[in-house]
Amino acid sequence: MNQNANPPAASLFNVETIRRDFPILQREVHGKPLIWLDSAATAQKPQAVIDRVARYYEHENSNIHRGTHTLATGADAAYEGARAKVAAFLGAASPQEIVFVRGTTEGLNLLAAIFGETLLRPGDEILLTEAEHHANIVPWQFAAKKTGAVIRVAPVDDNGDILLEEYARLLGPRTRVVSITHISNVLGTVMPIREMTALAKRHGATVVIDGAQGVPHRRVNVREIGCDFYVFSGHKLFAPTGIGAVYGRMEKWEQLPPWQGGGNMVDKVMFENTSFAQPPKRFEAGTPAVASAVGLGAAIDYLNGIGLDAIERYETELVAYALEGLGSVGGLRLIGMPKDRGGVISFVIEGIPDLEVASALDAEGIAVRAGTHCAQPILRRFGLESSVRPSFAFYNTKAEAGALIETLHSIGARR
Ligand code: ALA
Repeated sequence: MNQNANPPAASLFNVETIRRDFPILQREVHGKPLIWLDSAATAQKPQAVIDRVARYYEHENSNIHRGTHTLATGADAAYEGARAKVAAFLGAASPQEIVFVRGTTEGLNLLAAIFGETLLRPGDEILLTEAEHHANIVPWQFAAKKTGAVIRVAPVDDNGDILLEEYARLLGPRTRVVSITHISNVLGTVMPIREMTALAKRHGATVVIDGAQGVPHRRVNVREIGCDFYVFSGHKLFAPTGIGAVYGRMEKWEQLPPWQGGGNMVDKVMFENTSFAQPPKRFEAGTPAVASAVGLGAAIDYLNGIGLDAIERYETELVAYALEGLGSVGGLRLIGMPKDRGGVISFVIEGIPDLEVASALDAEGIAVRAGTHCAQPILRRFGLESSVRPSFAFYNTKAEAGALIETLHSIGARR
């Protein structure tokens, strides 16, 4: 046997062992074991992350005053250590390329605001895709309104895959910024971001990737992708809320002005004028979410212990199993059938409102999201205003997918 062949997913990790790392997965809802199929909204946290945050508050809590006393030095080291872990996780050239923010939404607002100050001129084009989350649409609308730039939108096909030729046709000399999702939070489509970045780069555009749904499901290497910026949220990556990161190539960060003003982001302050710190501090005004950043570092350690490649293999098998079963539910229409899919599946059941489906699932302990998923344009592309969305992570099992399918069969039978 070829020793280098990929072992079957099941031999790479034991999902039951993994589940024991997540205390919340042991609880019950309405007297039934919790089945958490809402990880695209927020992922559950392993004990290692919970313990690390508790230890920080029990033993290490301080503001990061750059070495004025012992606890400050320790907190500073823990915070900067988390930055280094994020940098390595994304394949960045240096920790200084990582700016901590509250999450993907804040990261995209930061970029749109500072590009609006420097990069965008009247008539410039910002290219998005039809599959974007509102967080990757609305900040660019603000920037366009302020600068006179124009938003263009690359379409997807009926499977939810990007129409690459259309995308390429929309790129041109006026394209200043391309901002695209790595994985759609509604369709689950994994966008061909390397190819899309390479095409955009031929026109000299600055490329931003919304990685909120990307990092929990795929190994990311920003230098292999070739993008200028990659943004993600900690809470979808098994880390606390209130922390996220923006990777940016250092030569790009260096050209950009600050966004928010305050402590930490300055060099010299006078009433007449102020000079600013070097990146990443230039973009981190005020006291950051130190404990959450430290928790994010612990989440990354935990994920590295399992391996993103193993996670991808396991989830691909699990999601394929779920898709097959969902296809057998009467009246159920799957929304999109992308070539490559992350952890998300969207559907509607003919004749039953989405919120009713979600409530009936909740009664059985099954948590899914139903509604617009903060991505109205892509639902409208499929003639819908909402959908039901189970989303999977590596701690979910085939038995849980089976329970979802079985419950949907009985909900469908009530039509
Ligand atoms: N953006 C998150 C979701 O898609 C909240 O559910």
